[in-house]
Amino acid sequence: MLDKFERAITYLRISVTGRCNMRCFYCRPGGGGEPGEPGLPAGDIVRIVRAGTRVGIRKIRLTGGEPLVRPDIVSLTAALSALPGIDDIALTTNGALLARYAQELKEAGLRRVNISLDTLRPERFTSITRAGRWQDVWSGVEAALVHDFSPVKLNVVVLRGHNEDEVADFARLAREYPLHVRFIELMPIGEGSAFTSELYVSADEIWGRLRDYAGALEPVGSVGGSGPARYWKLPGGRGTIGLIAPLSGYFCPSCNRMRLTAAGTLRPCLCQGEEIDVKPLLARGAGDDELAALMTRAIAAKPKGNPEHEIAPVTDRLMSQIGG
Ligand code: 5AD
Ligand code: SF4
Repeated sequence: MLDKFERAITYLRISVTGRCNMRCFYCRPGGGGEPGEPGLPAGDIVRIVRAGTRVGIRKIRLTGGEPLVRPDIVSLTAALSALPGIDDIALTTNGALLARYAQELKEAGLRRVNISLDTLRPERFTSITRAGRWQDVWSGVEAALVHDFSPVKLNVVVLRGHNEDEVADFARLAREYPLHVRFIELMPIGEGSAFTSELYVSADEIWGRLRDYAGALEPVGSVGGSGPARYWKLPGGRGTIGLIAPLSGYFCPSCNRMRLTAAGTLRPCLCQGEEIDVKPLLARGAGDDELAALMTRAIAAKPKGNPEHEIAPVTDRLMSQIGG
């Protein structure tokens, strides 16, 4: 279905849980505290996606929090990939549990994965994630390659003083392995909103570092998907290098997405607080018609987006609740 700005909304991102087995300092608060919402029950997610197919949703992404901390992630994936009308199902994961689940997820119908990995240095990894082990994630990356997920993308949020000196190392990785490394600008969302000015590294600067290392890069078309990244290849490289610039680029005009948060609400825009609660309909057993009507309302409520080159800090939710 088209929204008010003639954008076709075909893509639903689902935060299947607000919980995560890591605590990246720019994403989630440290310390004990709230573990985060568990996410909607699998049956309810399936109902919402089925209703979504009636209004043109064709692609879904399971995200979080960390989707693989959900004990039912494999059966949820299988149920969603069996829905007629869904022709693309993807996963964003921090990778720590991927080695354990890769084969089962493949059998459940998952074809492609994005793995978040901000550094190639194990000690840095522990200081950024506060809880993760680099080697676990790397095993997850290897498992994704062994089980032939395609494409396998690595998402790297570039953070001043933490990993901006690793751009060349990641580029080298994309030459050696069939990995699609995407450098992402930090957005002022959730926990990240407090740090943006200090940590933000622009896509231009990342590009400069890439050119210093690689010289000429060949532009390539999109790499399986419909997102806002632009991609290049190193001469002879097996993978690609992408840049995602939510701040310095401007992709609201081509936004194709709706979001389902871990709290059970539809969120028409990542950066604006308006949400439509699905839980009351779910609780009273609403059918596909009513759920599709709610989805229609949410699509109609999609705002134009951010002003060009500007995102006002988003503090009503954490990134892990919205799902990025
Ligand atoms: N800006 C950009 N990306 C973020 N992520 C989490 N917080 C932010 C932020 N403020 C990313 C993670 C991961 C995905 C879940 O979202 O690094 O790749
Ligand atoms: Fe967890 Fe991803 Fe947030 Fe890190 S960025 S705390 S891995 S949800």
